[in-house]
Amino acid sequence: MSSDNGGIDRLIRRDLQGLKAYQPIEPPEVIGERAGVSEVIKLDGNENPYGCSPTVSRALAEYPRYHIYPDPEQREVRKALSAYVGIDPGHIVAGAGSDELIDLILRLFIEPGDEVINCSPTFGMYPFCTDICGGSTADVPRDSSYAVDIAGIKRSLNRRTKVIFIASPNNPSGNLTPPNDIMELVETGRVVVVDEAYYEFSGATLAPHVTEHGNLIVLRSLSKWAGLAGLRIGYGVFPATVAQKILTIKQPYNINIAAQVALLASLADTGYLQGTVEKILLERERLFEKLSALDSLKPFPTQSNFILCEVTKGVAKTIHDGLRKKGIFIRYFDSPRLENSLRISVGRPEHTDALIAALKQIC
Ligand SMILES: Cc1ncc(COP(=O)(O)O)c(C=O)c1O
Repeated sequence: MSSDNGGIDRLIRRDLQGLKAYQPIEPPEVIGERAGVSEVIKLDGNENPYGCSPTVSRALAEYPRYHIYPDPEQREVRKALSAYVGIDPGHIVAGAGSDELIDLILRLFIEPGDEVINCSPTFGMYPFCTDICGGSTADVPRDSSYAVDIAGIKRSLNRRTKVIFIASPNNPSGNLTPPNDIMELVETGRVVVVDEAYYEFSGATLAPHVTEHGNLIVLRSLSKWAGLAGLRIGYGVFPATVAQKILTIKQPYNINIAAQVALLASLADTGYLQGTVEKILLERERLFEKLSALDSLKPFPTQSNFILCEVTKGVAKTIHDGLRKKGIFIRYFDSPRLENSLRISVGRPEHTDALIAALKQIC
């Protein structure tokens, strides 16, 4: 059959025909090859520059039963997460990254025509997954210091509004939303999803409040603090009835055994991981000071493992491209909500040194 309109294209859901692909970050070998460099300093994905706990590598090497399907009810995983979070396993479900949980939450609540509140600039997965569910995104932009506009959200609610996403700390701005503001949203009765992918770097959480409210969800990730981005594992803390429904609609074996083994080994070695988080926090301060000392950049205070900078002299894309030629990869933004800005993940001290030296040459 041909690929014109008489072909299979016409069978694709009409609302997905024009869907824009999510803009993902690419692996080091791909970005290195494209930029023509052999050494890559990767500061574009908010990944952990120290990698995972060494106990993870040992546990993965020794695990004897990769030929057996994983537990669809995630019993061991949920028990270990329950001990880590301090909340009963009946409230917890794990996903292939918190990305999968964003998707599952929207599949559970959103029917075509329903609305999801998005506070731009923020994590792009919320509108992307909303589109795939046939929902529509109501954007309530953050203010000039990236604070969530609580009154604006309340004004924009209508009978089709089902879900409100708040990333706290927010990506890419790195700031937290005060708990009282979030509680004001919880009182609206909509599903409020607080995305705490960077919790271990901020220390601020609403997870203990989930058991008191039927419409509050907290999402977390092991991608960042635990260095498991490549194994795809995150989790949500849900009201018990919602957790049950998410378990019902998810793919039965969504957590693969390698991710399970890695999660269990990580949660048995939180002392080591806390040590790497502390190194990142120290480096965050040093990087912030060094960026502040440059004439051309204005870093924004962060509670996360990355720093957003406004480019005050020059053009973000030019700086991004100049760094890329030197093998240093960061993110740049130039949209109405995020003009002429760069986002830089906190790396190891030697990454900071290389970045600052390169910025001094380029800017
Ligand atoms: C705010 C936010 N939420 C969720 C995620 C996705 O995390 P995961 O790797 O667990 O899917 C990210 C990743 O960058 C993020 O920035």
